[in-house]
Amino acid sequence: MTATQSAVRVSKLGYVGFETPDVARLTEYYTKVLDFQLVEQTAQEAFLTTGTDHHCVVLKQGQARGRTAVGYEVWEDLDAAQRRLKEAGYDSERRSDIGPGTPDVLVVDEAETGTPLHLITAQDPSGVEGYTPLRPTKLGHVASFTPSLKGMQDFYQDLLGFRWSDTVADFFVFLRCNGDHHAANFMASQKFEGMHHIAYEMRDPAHLIQMLDHLAKNNYRLHWGPGRHGPGHNLFTYHRDPDGNVIELFTQLDMIHDEAKGYWEPRPWHEENPMYPRTWETDLAFINAWGPVDFPSLDH
Ligand SMILES: [Fe+2]
Repeated sequence: MTATQSAVRVSKLGYVGFETPDVARLTEYYTKVLDFQLVEQTAQEAFLTTGTDHHCVVLKQGQARGRTAVGYEVWEDLDAAQRRLKEAGYDSERRSDIGPGTPDVLVVDEAETGTPLHLITAQDPSGVEGYTPLRPTKLGHVASFTPSLKGMQDFYQDLLGFRWSDTVADFFVFLRCNGDHHAANFMASQKFEGMHHIAYEMRDPAHLIQMLDHLAKNNYRLHWGPGRHGPGHNLFTYHRDPDGNVIELFTQLDMIHDEAKGYWEPRPWHEENPMYPRTWETDLAFINAWGPVDFPSLDH
């Protein structure tokens, strides 16, 4: 089934929800360390943004858990989206009480994990204007474990209109919903569940380095990177937030400018030219072209 025949068409990763035992501590990390803007706060929740969207991160009181909800923007109006999901065999629930910034939400449970997905047409504006030297440009992608790669891939492609971007061996798939190489990636695991990492985009390598110095000043150390991945070819760095969630800061992610041609915008570091979506071997040079590999990051 191609993207045009999918039940709905996701156009953007909007936000990711977290549960945390200490909303104040994680809010401080997001505002003081990652330089996000706190847009709204209730007794139990904090809404943070990097830009004009009301939020891209929602923190909620609870256990330390990543990716408790994911917000996706869709092209369809929500009436049509709900009808088409129903036709495809998926029940969804229309909600007006999800939270500030998203008064109209269609909630559908993700296949394989049951994670609530919040489908929206757009968010209210955050009111944040301009930019600061440090702040990431946007929420880039969120990676999670899934018991079945195929079930998840079928759900994302056939139901939500994602396109296949890359697979590593038989355990790691990358899916896109717009020009970016991936907004969602999934690692097959019978051992782990939940979020693998969440990733924020930096403008360029200099911006990334500036943020790494800022992390160091605040005693946040990388456990992997900088390096360059094969799939997506992004420069990557990984560290942990105060709850232990893995945070990726990246730049230079592959882009697809023309779906009809189907290859990534050519870059000098590509292994092939043109470079198409492909299945990669688990070659260490593909995991990090620059060398060092953090093996626990690949454990599944
Ligand atoms: Fe990533």
